[in-house]
Amino acid sequence: MRELSGRVAVVTGASSGIGRALAVRLAREGMSLMLADVDRGGLAETAALAGEAKVLTQITDVSDAVAVRHLADRAFGELGAVHVLCNNAGVFQGGYMWTRTPEDFTWMLGVNLWGVLHGIQSFVPRMIEQGTEGHIVNTVSVSGLFAGPYAGAYALSKYAAFAASQSLAQDLVTAGSRLRVTALCPGGVRTQINRSERVRPADLAMARTRDDLAAQSVVDGLVEKGIDPGEVAAAAVEAIKQERFLVLTHPGYEQGLRDQAESLLAGTLPATPVYE
Ligand SMILES: NC(=O)c1ccc[n+]([C@@H]2O[C@H](COP(=O)([O-])OP(=O)(O)OC[C@H]3O[C@@H](n4cnc5c(N)ncnc54)[C@H](O)[C@@H]3O)[C@@H](O)[C@H]2O)c1
Repeated sequence: MRELSGRVAVVTGASSGIGRALAVRLAREGMSLMLADVDRGGLAETAALAGEAKVLTQITDVSDAVAVRHLADRAFGELGAVHVLCNNAGVFQGGYMWTRTPEDFTWMLGVNLWGVLHGIQSFVPRMIEQGTEGHIVNTVSVSGLFAGPYAGAYALSKYAAFAASQSLAQDLVTAGSRLRVTALCPGGVRTQINRSERVRPADLAMARTRDDLAAQSVVDGLVEKGIDPGEVAAAAVEAIKQERFLVLTHPGYEQGLRDQAESLLAGTLPATPVYE
C-alpha cells in the first residue's frame, strides 16, 4: 500500500513508546488517526504530538472484545474507513516458567495475544468489505521468534501473536484479499515496556519472585540500550509501503534465525538468544 495520505489508521497502545511513535509517523504521512489505549493522559499527549492530523482517541482495553468492537464501530463510523490497523498494545512480565502465576499468563495472553485477535476479528471483515488496499501491522517482538530464559510467558504470547500474523497473512492471500500483514519484531526499544505493571489490572495482581527481579534488570538494560521508537515506526511504515511481512529491527537477528533453524534441524536446543 504505497499511498497513505488521506487514509485512516488505527493504533492500539498509542499512549507511549512504539504506539506513540507509530501515531506520530502515520500522522506525518497524512493519515487520520483513531488512537486507543488504557492510559487516558498518554493518549491526549500523543494526540497533541500528531500535529495537524485529524485524531480521535478512545479508552480501550484490547483484552476486552466488546471494547475493541466499539473502537471499530467508532473508527468506521466517524472516520468512514480503516486502511491501516496497528495491533500494538503489549505488556511484559518476566520470570521462570514455573514461578509465573495464572494471573501472569492471563494478563499477558489477554493483551499480547487476545488484543491482536480482537483487532483481527473486529476490523478485518470490515476492511475486506471496504474493498480497498489495507495493511495490518502486529507488533510482535523478537521474543516471538527466539524463546529465551526469564521471559517464557511473554515469549509464548508473542509466538502466538506471530502465528496469528502469519496465519492471517496466508488467509488473506488465499481469500484473494488486497489486505497485507506485517509482523513487526523489534529487539530492545527505549519505551516504558519495562514498567508494564503501571497498567496491570488490580484483579491480576502479581507476586514478586527473585527470578522476576532478575528478569526485570535484564529488561531494564535492554530498554536503556534500545533503539529509538521512531526507528521502529519508520521501519513499520516502510513495510506497509513495500508490503513486507517480517520486520527485524536489529541486524544480528537474521543470522540468529539461520542459527536457530540449524540447531532445530540438528535436533538440539538453540543457543540462548542474545537480545540487543
Ligand atoms: N520496547 C521494547 O523493547 C519492545 C521490544 C519488542 C516488542 N515490543 C512490543 O512493542 C509493543 C509496544 O510496547 P512499548 O515497548 O511501546 O511499551 P510501552 O509500555 O511504552 O507502550 C505500551 C502501551 O500499551 C498500552 N497498554 C497496555 N495494556 C493495554 C491494554 N490492555 N489495552 C490497551 N492498551 C494497553 C500501555 O498503556 C502503553 O501505552 C508491545 O506489544 C511490546 O510487547 C517492545
